[in-house]
Amino acid sequence: MKMTMIGTGYLGATHAACMAELGHEVLGLDVDEHKITQLAAGTTPFYEPGLDELLAKHTQSGRLRFTTDPAEAAEFANIHFIGVGTPQQAGSFAADLNYLHAAVDSIAEHLRGEHLLIGKSTVPVGTAADLQQRYPHLEVMWNPEFLREGHAVNDTLHPDRIVMGVRDGSTAAETLTQVYAQPIAEGTPVIVTDLATAELVKTSANAFLATKISFINAVSEICEVAGADIVDLAHALGLDDRIGPKFLGAGLGFGGGCLPKDIRAFMARAGELGANEALTFLREVDAINLRRREHLVQMAREACGGNLIGVRVTVLGAAFKPNSDDVRDSPALAVAGALNLAGAHVTVTDPKALAGAQRVFPTLAYEADTLTALRGADLVVLATEWDEYTNLDPQEVKKIVRRPVVIDGRNALDRQAWRDAGFDIHAMGRA
Ligand code: UDX
Repeated sequence: MKMTMIGTGYLGATHAACMAELGHEVLGLDVDEHKITQLAAGTTPFYEPGLDELLAKHTQSGRLRFTTDPAEAAEFANIHFIGVGTPQQAGSFAADLNYLHAAVDSIAEHLRGEHLLIGKSTVPVGTAADLQQRYPHLEVMWNPEFLREGHAVNDTLHPDRIVMGVRDGSTAAETLTQVYAQPIAEGTPVIVTDLATAELVKTSANAFLATKISFINAVSEICEVAGADIVDLAHALGLDDRIGPKFLGAGLGFGGGCLPKDIRAFMARAGELGANEALTFLREVDAINLRRREHLVQMAREACGGNLIGVRVTVLGAAFKPNSDDVRDSPALAVAGALNLAGAHVTVTDPKALAGAQRVFPTLAYEADTLTALRGADLVVLATEWDEYTNLDPQEVKKIVRRPVVIDGRNALDRQAWRDAGFDIHAMGRA
């Protein structure tokens, strides 16, 4: 089948390459010429395991092409996926839909005949119905994307569910069923529903995940004052199959381009709809999450005798999570910045995210090599649990730091091994 992908950022570039992998002919459209040139050459402008190979394979096979010309995209196919960003508005909790409207406007004027617009972006409930009204000559459906960064290719090729929101009486779900024939044949459940429900499935999934993380982090605060252990507690909780073990990792909390802005946009939309009270608990979810960052800075201060001025701190990790170069709302980088403002000399290292981090926080020191970054440190902070850091040999690290003190911000280090090497190890939510 022929289709376009409007917006070739994280979601769009992955979706485009994966649709080509499923056997379709795909044309990616974006306004960013530089990005389009890179993608057309088969290189990914960001780090996502497995995506480079897929892009190279299908730009070579000819099944995947890229353009900045909306007229070409309008001509190419009558199925159009849309996956542009919906960031948080400046000065408000609400989502900024300007990119979405601009993207649809750019192609809509060129469309002749029957066309299907399939929304994948995370949007406030009601957006799809609004688009349908704005563009009555198009058919609008919503097919939310649940991919996680770092697992984007696999999550797209083998999703755990496919949600299709359609307007009353529409047959658009049949078309999308053909597009996803392969994952559906593998047994992926398909839920066909109305537009609003499809939009809300995505927002509430992210709100639930954020709540689960903040729940365990709130309990972690209690563990600290009660002398209990959050890691053992989370393990025991997760064995209840009504609760499940995932997203119970206590530590520095959530960040990234999705969870933080999505819970805020959800609250803002609830307010617009007159249901403000329904989601006020998400304010608390947000507050618990941000408190984690301050708490780590306080732990650092205490570990250094009450004062961070002049202390050399090495922060392991800048990305908001491992296997990603994304530093949007990264807890790791927020902590590095706060330690710096508290007077510490901070050196940040990360396997993939240094360039992005440097753009956001140009005043910190950056070092790509882990051992060089650790040399002479008075305090080591594990902020992003890359394998490279959790596999560090504490005996080797001990030889190069100035003081053997480590804070595990992700509860990911082998405490006994670090202690055996002579480290004073502090962890979040552990006595
Ligand atoms: C999330 C959703 O998982 C995905 O379905 C949606 O499409 C986009 O938003 P992503 O932002 O890629 O995906 O990352 P995710 O793996 O969900 O992690 C989000 C944040 O939560 C990270 O900062 C991570 O470090 C943190 N986290 C995750 C925890 O603090 N504890 C956990 O137990 C799990």
